[in-house]
Amino acid sequence: MKRAILILSILFVASYVFAKVGGGDVVFKVGYGDVTFSHERHVEMGFFCNMCHPEPYVTKEKRKKVTMSEMNKGKSCGKCHNGKEAFTTKGNCKTCHVKK
Ligand code: HEC
Ligand code: HEC
Ligand code: HEC
Repeated sequence: MKRAILILSILFVASYVFAKVGGGDVVFKVGYGDVTFSHERHVEMGFFCNMCHPEPYVTKEKRKKVTMSEMNKGKSCGKCHNGKEAFTTKGNCKTCHVKK
Protein backbone atom coordinates (compact mmCIF):
# COMPACT_ATOMS: atom_id res chain seq x y z
CA MET A 1 0.00 0.00 0.00
CA LYS A 2 2.74 2.45 1.01
CA ARG A 3 4.60 1.49 -2.14
CA ALA A 4 1.51 2.11 -4.28
CA ILE A 5 1.12 5.57 -2.75
CA LEU A 6 4.79 6.35 -3.35
CA ILE A 7 4.53 5.25 -7.00
CA LEU A 8 1.38 7.34 -7.41
CA SER A 9 3.00 10.43 -5.88
CA ILE A 10 5.87 10.14 -8.31
CA LEU A 11 3.46 9.72 -11.23
CA PHE A 12 1.46 12.74 -10.06
CA VAL A 13 4.56 14.93 -9.94
CA ALA A 14 5.62 13.60 -13.34
CA SER A 15 2.18 14.38 -14.77
CA TYR A 16 2.58 18.04 -13.78
CA VAL A 17 6.09 18.21 -15.21
CA PHE A 18 4.77 16.97 -18.56
CA ALA A 19 1.92 19.49 -18.37
CA LYS A 20 -1.02 17.20 -19.05
CA VAL A 21 -3.96 16.87 -16.73
CA GLY A 22 -3.54 13.92 -14.34
CA GLY A 23 -2.84 10.73 -16.28
CA GLY A 24 -3.92 12.27 -19.62
CA ASP A 25 -6.13 10.21 -21.92
CA VAL A 26 -6.27 6.56 -20.86
CA VAL A 27 -7.42 4.01 -23.45
CA PHE A 28 -9.17 0.80 -22.43
CA LYS A 29 -8.84 -1.68 -25.32
CA VAL A 30 -12.15 -3.51 -25.65
CA GLY A 31 -13.27 -5.68 -28.58
CA TYR A 32 -16.71 -4.11 -28.43
CA GLY A 33 -15.11 -0.66 -29.01
CA ASP A 34 -12.20 1.11 -27.30
CA VAL A 35 -12.97 3.44 -24.41
CA THR A 36 -10.99 6.64 -23.88
CA PHE A 37 -11.09 8.05 -20.38
CA SER A 38 -10.22 11.76 -20.42
CA HIS A 39 -8.61 13.15 -17.26
CA GLU A 40 -8.98 16.64 -18.65
CA ARG A 41 -12.77 16.34 -19.04
CA HIS A 42 -13.26 14.80 -15.57
CA VAL A 43 -10.90 17.15 -13.76
CA GLU A 44 -12.41 20.24 -15.37
CA MET A 45 -15.84 19.07 -14.10
CA GLY A 46 -14.40 19.58 -10.63
CA PHE A 47 -13.39 16.06 -9.52
CA PHE A 48 -10.32 15.88 -7.32
CA CYS A 49 -7.60 13.29 -7.86
CA ASN A 50 -8.51 11.56 -4.58
CA MET A 51 -12.04 10.77 -5.80
CA CYS A 52 -10.51 8.18 -8.12
CA HIS A 53 -7.00 7.54 -6.67
CA PRO A 54 -5.75 5.29 -5.14
CA GLU A 55 -9.28 3.79 -5.19
CA PRO A 56 -10.56 2.50 -7.56
CA TYR A 57 -7.60 3.33 -9.82
CA VAL A 58 -3.84 3.14 -9.33
CA THR A 59 -2.03 3.04 -12.67
CA LYS A 60 -2.55 1.36 -16.05
CA GLU A 61 0.02 -1.30 -15.06
CA LYS A 62 -1.95 -2.11 -11.92
CA ARG A 63 -5.31 -2.20 -13.72
CA LYS A 64 -7.77 -4.82 -12.51
CA LYS A 65 -10.13 -5.69 -15.35
CA VAL A 66 -13.72 -4.94 -14.59
CA THR A 67 -16.70 -6.33 -16.51
CA MET A 68 -19.78 -4.33 -17.48
CA SER A 69 -21.91 -6.30 -15.00
CA GLU A 70 -19.51 -5.31 -12.19
CA MET A 71 -19.62 -1.71 -13.45
CA ASN A 72 -23.42 -1.80 -13.43
CA LYS A 73 -23.11 -2.68 -9.71
CA GLY A 74 -20.91 0.33 -8.98
CA LYS A 75 -17.33 -0.76 -9.74
CA SER A 76 -14.86 1.42 -11.67
CA CYS A 77 -16.66 3.93 -13.94
CA GLY A 78 -19.94 2.67 -12.42
CA LYS A 79 -19.01 4.45 -9.17
CA CYS A 80 -20.42 7.61 -10.80
CA HIS A 81 -21.89 6.41 -14.11
CA ASN A 82 -24.95 4.99 -12.35
CA GLY A 83 -27.72 7.18 -13.76
CA LYS A 84 -27.56 9.53 -10.75
CA GLU A 85 -24.16 11.28 -10.65
CA ALA A 86 -23.60 10.68 -14.38
CA PHE A 87 -25.12 8.81 -17.35
CA THR A 88 -25.52 5.09 -16.64
CA THR A 89 -23.35 2.21 -17.90
CA LYS A 90 -26.58 0.22 -18.42
CA GLY A 91 -26.98 2.19 -21.66
CA ASN A 92 -25.09 4.98 -23.44
CA CYS A 93 -22.73 2.32 -24.79
CA LYS A 94 -21.55 4.51 -27.63
CA THR A 95 -20.80 7.51 -25.42
CA CYS A 96 -17.91 5.44 -24.02
CA HIS A 97 -17.22 2.74 -26.63
CA VAL A 98 -15.97 3.89 -30.01
CA LYS A 99 -15.91 1.26 -32.76
CA LYS A 100 -12.72 1.04 -34.79
C1 HEC B 1 -12.98 10.44 -12.48
C2 HEC B 1 -11.86 9.62 -12.09
C3 HEC B 1 -10.46 10.16 -12.09
C4 HEC B 1 -10.00 11.36 -11.58
C5 HEC B 1 -10.80 12.48 -10.92
C6 HEC B 1 -8.56 11.34 -11.75
N1 HEC B 1 -8.17 10.18 -12.35
FE1 HEC B 1 -6.26 9.61 -12.76
N2 HEC B 1 -6.93 7.85 -13.58
C7 HEC B 1 -8.27 7.52 -13.73
C8 HEC B 1 -8.36 6.30 -14.48
C9 HEC B 1 -9.66 5.61 -14.91
C10 HEC B 1 -7.04 5.89 -14.77
C11 HEC B 1 -6.62 4.65 -15.53
C12 HEC B 1 -6.46 3.53 -14.53
C13 HEC B 1 -6.36 2.20 -15.19
O1 HEC B 1 -5.97 2.11 -16.35
O2 HEC B 1 -6.71 1.22 -14.50
C14 HEC B 1 -6.15 6.90 -14.18
C15 HEC B 1 -4.76 6.86 -14.24
C16 HEC B 1 -3.93 7.87 -13.76
C17 HEC B 1 -2.49 7.87 -13.84
C18 HEC B 1 -1.66 6.76 -14.44
C19 HEC B 1 -1.61 6.86 -15.92
C20 HEC B 1 -0.77 5.74 -16.49
O3 HEC B 1 -0.24 5.98 -17.58
O4 HEC B 1 -0.67 4.65 -15.88
C21 HEC B 1 -2.04 9.03 -13.28
C22 HEC B 1 -0.60 9.52 -13.16
C23 HEC B 1 -3.20 9.76 -12.85
N3 HEC B 1 -4.34 9.04 -13.15
C24 HEC B 1 -3.15 10.98 -12.23
C25 HEC B 1 -4.26 11.72 -11.82
C26 HEC B 1 -4.19 13.06 -11.21
C27 HEC B 1 -2.90 13.82 -10.92
C28 HEC B 1 -5.47 13.45 -10.97
C29 HEC B 1 -5.97 14.78 -10.42
C30 HEC B 1 -5.54 15.95 -11.16
C31 HEC B 1 -6.34 12.35 -11.43
N4 HEC B 1 -5.57 11.33 -11.94
C32 HEC B 1 -7.72 12.38 -11.34
C33 HEC B 1 -9.34 8.20 -13.22
C34 HEC B 1 -9.29 9.43 -12.59
C1 HEC C 1 -15.90 10.43 -9.82
C2 HEC C 1 -17.03 10.18 -10.74
C3 HEC C 1 -16.73 9.62 -12.12
C4 HEC C 1 -16.01 8.51 -12.43
C5 HEC C 1 -15.31 7.52 -11.50
C6 HEC C 1 -16.04 8.40 -13.89
N1 HEC C 1 -16.77 9.43 -14.43
FE1 HEC C 1 -17.08 9.82 -16.40
N2 HEC C 1 -18.18 11.47 -15.94
C7 HEC C 1 -18.54 11.85 -14.67
C8 HEC C 1 -19.49 12.95 -14.74
C9 HEC C 1 -20.15 13.66 -13.56
C10 HEC C 1 -19.66 13.22 -16.11
C11 HEC C 1 -20.55 14.30 -16.74
C12 HEC C 1 -21.99 14.06 -16.41
C13 HEC C 1 -22.79 13.42 -17.48
O1 HEC C 1 -22.49 13.66 -18.67
O2 HEC C 1 -23.74 12.64 -17.15
C14 HEC C 1 -18.81 12.27 -16.84
C15 HEC C 1 -18.69 12.25 -18.22
C16 HEC C 1 -18.04 11.25 -18.94
C17 HEC C 1 -17.98 11.17 -20.39
C18 HEC C 1 -18.53 12.19 -21.35
C19 HEC C 1 -17.38 13.15 -21.53
C20 HEC C 1 -17.67 14.40 -22.22
O3 HEC C 1 -16.82 14.78 -23.02
O4 HEC C 1 -18.69 15.04 -21.92
C21 HEC C 1 -17.30 10.03 -20.71
C22 HEC C 1 -16.98 9.49 -22.08
C23 HEC C 1 -16.91 9.40 -19.45
N3 HEC C 1 -17.38 10.18 -18.39
C24 HEC C 1 -16.22 8.21 -19.35
C25 HEC C 1 -15.82 7.63 -18.14
C26 HEC C 1 -15.11 6.37 -18.05
C27 HEC C 1 -14.70 5.51 -19.23
C28 HEC C 1 -14.89 6.14 -16.73
C29 HEC C 1 -14.17 4.97 -16.08
C30 HEC C 1 -12.85 4.63 -16.62
C31 HEC C 1 -15.46 7.27 -15.99
N4 HEC C 1 -16.02 8.14 -16.88
C32 HEC C 1 -15.42 7.39 -14.61
C33 HEC C 1 -18.08 11.28 -13.49
C34 HEC C 1 -17.24 10.18 -13.37
C1 HEC D 1 -18.97 5.07 -18.63
C2 HEC D 1 -18.41 4.40 -19.79
C3 HEC D 1 -19.00 3.10 -20.28
C4 HEC D 1 -20.30 2.87 -20.69
C5 HEC D 1 -21.48 3.82 -20.70
C6 HEC D 1 -20.31 1.50 -21.16
N1 HEC D 1 -19.07 0.93 -21.03
FE1 HEC D 1 -18.54 -0.97 -21.55
N2 HEC D 1 -16.68 -0.70 -20.74
C7 HEC D 1 -16.20 0.52 -20.28
C8 HEC D 1 -14.81 0.33 -19.86
C9 HEC D 1 -13.89 1.39 -19.28
C10 HEC D 1 -14.49 -1.03 -20.09
C11 HEC D 1 -13.17 -1.73 -19.82
C12 HEC D 1 -13.09 -2.10 -18.37
C13 HEC D 1 -11.80 -2.76 -17.99
O1 HEC D 1 -11.09 -3.31 -18.85
O2 HEC D 1 -11.48 -2.75 -16.78
C14 HEC D 1 -15.69 -1.65 -20.65
C15 HEC D 1 -15.80 -3.00 -21.02
C16 HEC D 1 -16.83 -3.51 -21.79
C17 HEC D 1 -16.86 -4.87 -22.32
C18 HEC D 1 -15.81 -5.96 -22.07
C19 HEC D 1 -15.99 -6.49 -20.65
C20 HEC D 1 -17.25 -7.29 -20.50
O3 HEC D 1 -18.07 -6.94 -19.62
O4 HEC D 1 -17.48 -8.23 -21.27
C21 HEC D 1 -18.02 -4.97 -23.06
C22 HEC D 1 -18.49 -6.19 -23.86
C23 HEC D 1 -18.73 -3.71 -22.94
N3 HEC D 1 -17.97 -2.84 -22.17
C24 HEC D 1 -19.95 -3.42 -23.51
C25 HEC D 1 -20.75 -2.32 -23.17
C26 HEC D 1 -22.16 -2.16 -23.56
C27 HEC D 1 -22.94 -3.13 -24.43
C28 HEC D 1 -22.57 -0.95 -23.02
C29 HEC D 1 -23.96 -0.33 -23.05
C30 HEC D 1 -25.03 -1.15 -22.48
C31 HEC D 1 -21.43 -0.37 -22.32
N4 HEC D 1 -20.35 -1.22 -22.42
C32 HEC D 1 -21.44 0.85 -21.67
C33 HEC D 1 -16.89 1.70 -20.22
C34 HEC D 1 -18.23 1.88 -20.49
